[in-house]
Amino acid sequence: MEYALETTSLDALQADCLIIGVYQDQQLTDSAASLPESTRNVISKVLARGDNKGAIGTTLLINALPDSGIERVLLAGLGEHKALTGKNFRKALQAVFASLKKSQIKTVTCTLADVDVINGDRQWKTRQIIEIVNDTAYQFTAYKSNKDLDFTIEKISITAPTSELTQAQLGLSQGTAIADGINLTKLLGDLPGNICTPTYLAEQAIELGSQYDKLSINVLEEADMEQLGMGALLSVSRGSRQPAKLITLDYQGGDKNAKPIVLIGKGLTFDAGGISLKPGLGMDEMKYDMCGGATVLGTLKAAAEMKLPLNIIGLIPASENLPDGDANKPGDVLISMSGKTIEVLNTDAEGRLLLCDTLTYAERFNPDVVIDMATLTGACLVALGRVPSGLLGNNDELCNALLAAGEVANDSLWRLPLWEEYQEQLKSNFADLANIGGKDAGTITAACFLSHFAEKFNWAHLDIAGTAWRTGQNKGATGRPVPLLTQYLLNRAYG
Ligand code: BES
Ligand code: MN
Ligand code: ZN
Repeated sequence: MEYALETTSLDALQADCLIIGVYQDQQLTDSAASLPESTRNVISKVLARGDNKGAIGTTLLINALPDSGIERVLLAGLGEHKALTGKNFRKALQAVFASLKKSQIKTVTCTLADVDVINGDRQWKTRQIIEIVNDTAYQFTAYKSNKDLDFTIEKISITAPTSELTQAQLGLSQGTAIADGINLTKLLGDLPGNICTPTYLAEQAIELGSQYDKLSINVLEEADMEQLGMGALLSVSRGSRQPAKLITLDYQGGDKNAKPIVLIGKGLTFDAGGISLKPGLGMDEMKYDMCGGATVLGTLKAAAEMKLPLNIIGLIPASENLPDGDANKPGDVLISMSGKTIEVLNTDAEGRLLLCDTLTYAERFNPDVVIDMATLTGACLVALGRVPSGLLGNNDELCNALLAAGEVANDSLWRLPLWEEYQEQLKSNFADLANIGGKDAGTITAACFLSHFAEKFNWAHLDIAGTAWRTGQNKGATGRPVPLLTQYLLNRAYG
C-alpha cells in the first residue's frame, strides 16, 4: 500500500474515488465546498433522495460523475453535525474502507482528515486513517493457494491544507511505521505453531535487527539460561522438543546514559497446558500465546522506523508448553533465577514461569520502567471481555501514563487492583510461592505472582488474553497492544 498526502484543490483533482463526509442534516463537510459545481449538484440530488441519511458507519458510492477528474465519490456518514468523538471518527473510517473491499477502485483520495474531531489534531487524524486502512487491508494468505486479496486499493492519498502539512507529514510517517509494526505482530501471531517456534521467533528478531543500525539482537540458548539459574523458565521448555530462547532486542536511539524502557513479551509459541492438559475445543488458538512477544517485535520495529530518541530493551522468553516426558508435573518445585522457589500446582500457568525469570533478568538493564505483556489468563477474558487489556502495576505514574496512551491510541486498558490481600492466595506449603492462586481473581493473582519478581523497579503488567486476537469466524491476530505501546513511547519521546 502506498500512502501520500494531497494538497491539490478538489476542483483540480484527478482521482478514481474521492471520500467525502456527510452529516445527518445532509450537509457535506467543509472540504466539499471546493468540489466542481457539477459534482456538487449530483451529490445534492442523491442526498435529497434520502439515500444516505448521514448516520455514523453508513456509506454511499456514487459511481459515475459528469465532466470531472473525479471518477467516483464515496459519501461517508458522520452523524450529528458537530465535532466527532475519536471513536466515531474511527467508526466512520472503518465503514468507508470496509465498503471498498472487492471493488475495482485502485486509488483513493480521502478528505476525512479535514473533519473536526474532539482531541484529534491533523497528525492524529492522518495517522488513524493509515492505521485503519492497514487494518482493513491485512489478510493472512501465507498458506492459501489463492492469494488474491479482498482489498485491492493500491494508493491512498490523504488531503491536507498546506498550512498543516508538517503535522500531516508527521502523522503519515508515524502511521506507516506503526502500521508496519502492527502487521509484523499480526503475521507472527497468525503463523501456525509448527512454523512459528521459539527458534523462528529468534530468527525473526535477528532479521529485524539487520534492518536497523540502532537495533541489536542477542539470543540466549538453554545452556546460557541454565548458567543464569533460570529454573522457572527452563522447566516449561523441558516439556517440549523445541529449545527455549530468550531474545533480547536492544534499541539505542537515546542518550548513551539514559535508562532504558524495558518491554517484556510472553513468547509461548504453543500452549497445550503441559501435563495439566487443556481441553481440545479451541486449543488451536493457543498458537496466539506468543502475541506478547510478537508485540515486542512489532513495537521495536515501529520505534526503530520512527527513529525514536529513546533507549528501549525488548525481552522475549520463547518456549512451547507441551506434555513431553520431562515436562513439569503438578507438585514439582522449581528454583527461579531470583532464588525464590515455586510450587507448580498447575502446569498450564506457565506464562508466569517464563516471565518471572525474565523480570529478574531485566534488573541488569537498570530499567527506568518495565512493562510486560502477556496472554496470561483466561480470567481476564471473563472479567473484561475483548475490549480493554488488563493493567496491573506497582507504580501509579507509569499506570496512568499507559492508561492515557491507550485512550489516544484507541487501544484501551482497565486497571485492576494489586492489593496485599490477594497475596494470601499464592501461599504454598512446600515452596515460597504457588504458581496459581485458586479460582477467584485469576488475573490479579497472576499479577501478584509476577510482582514478587518486579520489586526492584517501576513495573506494569498488561494481560492481553482478550485483546491480542479475535475468535470465531473472523479469527486472527489484532496487533494489539502495539498501538498503545507506540503511543506511550511517542509520549515519552516528545510528550
Ligand atoms: N495462555 C493461557 C491463558 C489464556 C487462556 C489466554 C485463554 C487466552 C485465552 C495461560 O497460559 C493459561 O493457561 N492460564 C491458565 C491459568 C490457570 C491455570 C491459573 C488459565 O487462564 O486457565
Ligand atoms: Mn497455559
Ligand atoms: Zn499460556
